[in-house]
Amino acid sequence: MKDQITKAEVTRRSFMAGTTVLGGAILTSQSASADPMTTEETWSKPTNVIEQIVEVFGGFDFDQESAEAVRKNGTDNARLAYHAKAASRRSHAIQCALQAEQAGADEPFIAAALVHDIGHSFAAPAPIGLEDEYDDLHGKVAAYWLRNAFVEEVSEPVLLHVPGKRYLVSTRPEYMGILSAGSIDSLRRQGGPMTDDEIQEFEARPHSDWGVEVRIWDDKAKVRGFELPNIERFIPYLEASLKV
Ligand SMILES: [Fe+2]
Repeated sequence: MKDQITKAEVTRRSFMAGTTVLGGAILTSQSASADPMTTEETWSKPTNVIEQIVEVFGGFDFDQESAEAVRKNGTDNARLAYHAKAASRRSHAIQCALQAEQAGADEPFIAAALVHDIGHSFAAPAPIGLEDEYDDLHGKVAAYWLRNAFVEEVSEPVLLHVPGKRYLVSTRPEYMGILSAGSIDSLRRQGGPMTDDEIQEFEARPHSDWGVEVRIWDDKAKVRGFELPNIERFIPYLEASLKV
């Protein structure tokens, strides 16, 4: 019976095994002692996929204020620099998830909003000298990873929020006016406005409407100094969206 419970836990909660490189930091299990996979009959040091996501955003005990201060003042310390980056990732992700929550979206779409940009954290960096032309394909990188652990209502809006911007630019003329300078710049690298054929193709894809919604929440989730709720608030949405 004990074994059965352990296996169910493993299936549901501990998708990734070993260590994973995210955003330049080597992550290892944060809760090894509490994890059912630490007994001898299981494989080595698993890292729960939800814990990995939280780690990208600085971890459960993240000090947003000091990380913001480091971000402002700069640092030579690699770990602090990593945390400073996490501060902006965390703020943008949480603000986006709050937008989804306020819109009354279902749990997987709130989860999608939270992790929509997570691909930036583990996409390959730009080759030296090609930074201006480089597209890190963060939507694809994230979606391919998320598909292994989460339902398609999470992975596909994440995948489609990038073409969602191209779609909105092409179908809602006023949309261009609300884009940040960075988004306008990346639009060029991402292919610019869609052609009529591309629009039709996009609309036919499952969950493209939610890709567009995530993109709209994304644009509203860039408020500096926003007072953030704890990340724990969003864990139930992630848990409810795991593949069974
Ligand atoms: Fe974003």
